[in-house]
Amino acid sequence: MKVLVATEKPFAKVAVDGIRKEIEAAGYELALLEKYTDKAQLLDAVKDANAIIIRSDIIDAEVLDAAKELKIVVRAGAGYDNVDLAAATAHNVCVMNTPGQNSNAVAELALGMMVYAVRNFYNGTSGTELMGKKLGIHAYGNVGRNVARIAKGFGMEVYAYDAFCPKEVIEKDGVKALDSAEELYKTCQVVSLHIPATAETKNSINYALLKDMPKGAMLVNTARKEVINEAELIKLMEERADFKYITDIMPAANAEFAEKFAGRYFSTPKKMGAQTAEANINAGIAAAKQIVGFLKDGCEKFRVNK
Ligand code: 3PG
Repeated sequence: MKVLVATEKPFAKVAVDGIRKEIEAAGYELALLEKYTDKAQLLDAVKDANAIIIRSDIIDAEVLDAAKELKIVVRAGAGYDNVDLAAATAHNVCVMNTPGQNSNAVAELALGMMVYAVRNFYNGTSGTELMGKKLGIHAYGNVGRNVARIAKGFGMEVYAYDAFCPKEVIEKDGVKALDSAEELYKTCQVVSLHIPATAETKNSINYALLKDMPKGAMLVNTARKEVINEAELIKLMEERADFKYITDIMPAANAEFAEKFAGRYFSTPKKMGAQTAEANINAGIAAAKQIVGFLKDGCEKFRVNK
């Protein structure tokens, strides 16, 4: 059996070593395709792979067509919007993610970006503090929970809205659960986004939702760029000079944001949320174990294309 790690944005070496150990202990072979720059390289590498570990790498119908021996794809991470699930099911390929494995890393980055922004990007001028600010967590999953835990340490007042998580679950963590996204954005000066990119959420963070955020508002995005209605966010930031947008996922309109909103816009050049040795080890080794469990015992825990 051949397991391919196909990562345009590679894992830390220590994580690859851990993946190799799991795969070879099971008697399988590990192949690596890292930092590839062309889809043709991926199409070639998947030809004889029985299993693939990916990150945000795109697995579409063309890749699945090329991967004639493929049985399973594991997205080492939470969001699987980069995998065409219907095409995978049609190709009889199991798709899994590794929920929770990189969530602390993403949460730490969200808080780090908040500090960076309220301290005026460390430009030497007087900024403000997170303590006492109202933080709204939009979606209370694995990352949202970690953001709440860390934000409470900063002395922030923490609120959350999640359409699928019962209010009692949120409130058990000492977080105030609100009834709607509208209420969250009206209440909180800082909002941290943790919604997945789905048909329902794409473009859902729009002018109507953002316009009522309190003075000095800041939107922090460590989720997905697709959930933002970029044209409407630009319109809002043109109208509100107090509004900051801080993102770990570069917008399609990055050049326009950077030019128009200097001093209140920041994007990482490449998504960095899960880019820690710990997150790479956790998610990468979980992915390797899930592959071995699936190929040896048929275990389908964490399958997402049921
Ligand atoms: C995830 O969905 O797990 C995060 O967005 C991390 O993505 P990455 O593995 O591409 O950094």
